[in-house]
Amino acid sequence: MTVPLLDLSQQHQSLLPELREAFEAMIVSGRFILGPHVEGFERKLADYCHARHAIGMSSGTDAILAALMALNIGPGDEVVTTPFTFFATAGCIARTGARPVFIDIEPTTFNLDPTLLAGALNARTKAIIPIHLFGQTADMGTIMRIARRAGVPVIEDAAQAIGARDGNDVAGAIGDMGCLSFYPSKNLSALGDAGACVTNNPEYNERLRIMRTHGEVSRYHHSYIGGNFRIDAIQASILSIKLPHLEKWTLARRANAKRYHELLEQDLPLVLPVEMPGRYHVYNQYTVRVPGGRRDELRRHLAAHGIGHEVYYPVPLHLQKCFEHLGHQVGDFPQSERAAQEVLSLPIFPELQRSQQDEVIRVIREFYR
Ligand SMILES: Cc1ncc(COP(=O)(O)O)c(C=O)c1O
Repeated sequence: MTVPLLDLSQQHQSLLPELREAFEAMIVSGRFILGPHVEGFERKLADYCHARHAIGMSSGTDAILAALMALNIGPGDEVVTTPFTFFATAGCIARTGARPVFIDIEPTTFNLDPTLLAGALNARTKAIIPIHLFGQTADMGTIMRIARRAGVPVIEDAAQAIGARDGNDVAGAIGDMGCLSFYPSKNLSALGDAGACVTNNPEYNERLRIMRTHGEVSRYHHSYIGGNFRIDAIQASILSIKLPHLEKWTLARRANAKRYHELLEQDLPLVLPVEMPGRYHVYNQYTVRVPGGRRDELRRHLAAHGIGHEVYYPVPLHLQKCFEHLGHQVGDFPQSERAAQEVLSLPIFPELQRSQQDEVIRVIREFYR
């Protein structure tokens, strides 16, 4: 039996008549850019995220870039984030001309370590981007307290964490702006690239909408330099069909995580993901640590037995070639570097069958036997 890391075919099969209908309606309507499908999706998404506003974007990456542009961030500015994340978080900071300032992660959650935050802020700091990696929020209570005291806005990278909660607060709507991704591997996935920003602040809502269409304040009048960051209407209409199912899919991910926990916890040396007290993890990834320098050996064993897996992420961003100019070296962020060597993500998608999960567990057990 082979087990994929992710299989969207069952999800799409069950929604096929609705998806087909949406495509046909879109083709006939000819309204491909913004319009009622985008507005409808934005309203539903804002409700889902407990935010006042949602702004559909062309990708999670463009959502982050637009949020930074809405804060007028550029050369000479600094933005604080972690080096253990997908490239886009720091890539967008650098694309504005600002400097990504890295701080290390907490080893348990893989998220920004708030005890290091105050020490990284200075007069040049124009934003903080915590990432809710793998589907669990960073410690937003502490991060927001420090940020508010310093007067620095917070952009949440909630690309992997739609619906995650820290207490009663929903990912994306806790900071000043939140960025979501609907890339196919995400919990709510488009049929291609798509993303969104959410915010409770009416001024940021307006600025994000302006940035999304080339900084245009009225037709062909540009007060700012923005970009084309618009979500496609077809993706918005697909996402509107999928959104009502998201809660059910999240519960299935959580049930799969619980079952891994029960069946892997006792006698194996793996370090399993921890849901912190008061937080609601949405398990975009089920990421374990493989200690003892054996991660790549286990990877090869899984591959040989047809078990899908991935390493998110093998190289922390401070050690990427494109960020050489930042002057970092091995040893600067030990928790991020260690995570990059130990992490391994296992299949957790909602439609994962019990027999498939049993096979993942069997193959892992065989490795340690
Ligand atoms: C943490 C994180 N940030 C940003 C992104 C960028 O999103 P997208 O791929 O939609 O551009 C992703 C997803 O790929 C992500 O996982």
